[in-house]
Amino acid sequence: MISEQEVRELLKKVQDPFLHKTLEETNGIMEVKIKEEKKHVSVKVAISKTGTSEQLQLQMEIVNLLKNAGAETVGIRFAELPKEVLEKFKGQAGDSGHDLLSPSSKTEFIAIASGKGGVGKSTVSVNLAVALARLGKKVGLVDADIYGFSVPDMMGITHRPLVKGNKIIPVERFGVKVISMGFFVEDNAPVIWRGPMLGKMLNNFFKEVEWGELDYLILDLPPGTGDVALDVHTMIPHSKEIIVSTPHPTAAFVAARAGAMALRTKHEILGVIENMSYFESKKTGEREYIFGKGGGEKLAEELQTDLFGQIPLQQPDWNEADFAPSVYSEDHPIGKIYMDIAKKVDQKLVSQN
Ligand SMILES: Nc1ncnc2c1ncn2[C@@H]1O[C@H](COP(=O)(O)OP(=O)(O)OP(=O)(O)O)[C@@H](O)[C@H]1O
Ligand SMILES: [Mg+2]
Repeated sequence: MISEQEVRELLKKVQDPFLHKTLEETNGIMEVKIKEEKKHVSVKVAISKTGTSEQLQLQMEIVNLLKNAGAETVGIRFAELPKEVLEKFKGQAGDSGHDLLSPSSKTEFIAIASGKGGVGKSTVSVNLAVALARLGKKVGLVDADIYGFSVPDMMGITHRPLVKGNKIIPVERFGVKVISMGFFVEDNAPVIWRGPMLGKMLNNFFKEVEWGELDYLILDLPPGTGDVALDVHTMIPHSKEIIVSTPHPTAAFVAARAGAMALRTKHEILGVIENMSYFESKKTGEREYIFGKGGGEKLAEELQTDLFGQIPLQQPDWNEADFAPSVYSEDHPIGKIYMDIAKKVDQKLVSQN
């Protein structure tokens, strides 16, 4: 029967499926136990990401290895490698250098979600991304609304991404790297793919795009809790979420469903942003609560999270020379609110790490 020492020798050479380093290098062999009389070997192995198809393959590899060496039955438990180990190997994984979805990536994903359409997710996504860039962060923005893309127009992006080798270079605007389905369709044609194609497209946005190093990747989700939102949940399990709602209590009620979905899929909710909170008269400074009051607060309470800010109704100042119809300038009152929100978001994430 095989000895503990021999099992360890065999396992040492096995590779972590994501880091492409041996378990010896990652210190991934956590436990080896032998039951002589039953010819049973049980091992505990730490890898960079559990619950994946790669784990299943690794499991088969280890079982075969140990059975060939004389074990009759094999038990395997998996754990995740500690953060410090992952960080050590950061950037060394494979040849892609900056694989955003790799577990060693330091990029924070923030999905902007809502229960229903038209509450300002895209406006918030764009302006939060721009504000984070104004704070000196490296920011990417994915317009994950495959059918109803709007980010290129909102930011006034007039050119398309370049292709370098087999990678797409995102378009940079206001210091934010942007990718949208809108870059890949002709003349505003409707997008008519469904189901599996959607997930593939989204996957391409991560795998085929040369993002470089990013601190934040903001995802502008389509409204509701449909396909794409679900794809994002499965594709980026560590993504965090900000829920956008208008101040009306029923809007908050619908938004709570997006929150419930985030929780069920174990996405952490970072906070709530209330949009279209009030209209402030330029003449008198008086505030009118056109869409009601208190929805954002109520939602944050219900989801046990922070209310990052309340954004009044007002358009950005339009600049004909450099047209970006939905981007507020840094000194615009709403631009300032976005800066404040960006700081809060950044601080909350820094304090978590
Ligand atoms: N605070 C605001 N003040 C004035 N107009 C706003 C404000 N926020 C959003 N809007 C406008 O409301 C409309 C809807 O906003 P936006 O497209 O960002 O919403 P959305 O939630 O992304 O919509 P969809 O669900 O269709 O993706 C846009 O025309 C936008 O310019
Ligand atoms: Mg939108």
